[in-house]
Amino acid sequence: MLAKLDQIEQDALEALAPLTTEEQLEAWRVANLGRSSPLMVVFTHLGQLSKEERPAIGRRANEVKGELEAALNAKNEVLQSDALQRALETERLDVTLPGRELPVGRLHIVTQTLREIARVFGDMGFQIYRSRDVEYDEYNFQLLNFPPNHPARDMQDSFYIEGSVDPDNPILLRTHTSPGQIHAMREITAQYPHDPPPIRIILPGMCYRYEQISARSEVQFTQVEGLAVGHSITFSDLKGTLSDFARRMFGQSVRSRFRASHFPFTEPSAEMDIECFVCGGEGCSVCKQTGWLELLGCGMVHPTVLLNGGYDPHKYTGYAFGMGPERAALLRHRIEDIRYFWSNDLRFLEQF
Ligand code: DAH
Repeated sequence: MLAKLDQIEQDALEALAPLTTEEQLEAWRVANLGRSSPLMVVFTHLGQLSKEERPAIGRRANEVKGELEAALNAKNEVLQSDALQRALETERLDVTLPGRELPVGRLHIVTQTLREIARVFGDMGFQIYRSRDVEYDEYNFQLLNFPPNHPARDMQDSFYIEGSVDPDNPILLRTHTSPGQIHAMREITAQYPHDPPPIRIILPGMCYRYEQISARSEVQFTQVEGLAVGHSITFSDLKGTLSDFARRMFGQSVRSRFRASHFPFTEPSAEMDIECFVCGGEGCSVCKQTGWLELLGCGMVHPTVLLNGGYDPHKYTGYAFGMGPERAALLRHRIEDIRYFWSNDLRFLEQF
């Protein structure tokens, strides 16, 4: 019987050694320590043994039971610490790995340009005035002194809203930011009709024209308008301010020039060019061999426009200008096609 217990012990320990899972351990426990295991059968038959045999066998059987239980516990611990070790290894966090880069958004190139223009004029004391995108013909054209048959009034050039109530004053998407001049002046003169304070504002915003889309023209584009109204403002204020703007925007050494031009709402009117920053004035493909780049239109606010805004042209003078930020960005970054700006192609937008 003692030999049998030795055998039970040896078999059980041998069977335990290769086990690797909790399920296997449980099966082993049932087989070796469960009620019908060989060891337990020995216990149930103890009573049938002789008085002489019983104590020794009983002690040995208890010993074997204690050993098997201890072996099971030890094995259990080994399995658990193995599992922990494996988890630590496979789920290890390597803090030296480079992080996953999050895509970072950015401002649209035109917004960046608009903000830069606003910053430069802001430094010179100009405030931003926001005006509406949808206008009456009256503001977009009439109050800006456009004669009735001016080519810009042609149906081809404007997006009119169908079903406008007044056929003489249809509603349209503004073709330029200039109507904001009237809104701004009227807002101020409504508050101070007798002695309106001076104005120094820029008016940025989207403009719309019903045009054939090409590499050089879009139906939608931004403009930045400028307006300064006050006592004894002269053309030299206009020239000084805009030349300074060009230097601050494009570089201190950039030269500018003014050419006579025509706009219905300014008199006299001019166009301002800056020296080509690509070739430094030598002549290249960007400036079409002229050495100059056209930057903006400008002029002294026409007396009729001042009057339409509520300012007495005998007491007040002013200058105005209008420029296209897309054009400035186009020149600066040598972008060849204006359609890139609003076609939402990330390959283009992410370059800036
Ligand atoms: N409104 C003009 C355009 O869209 C640009 C312009 C020219 C604005 C001269 C002005 C200005 O204020 O004085 O072509």
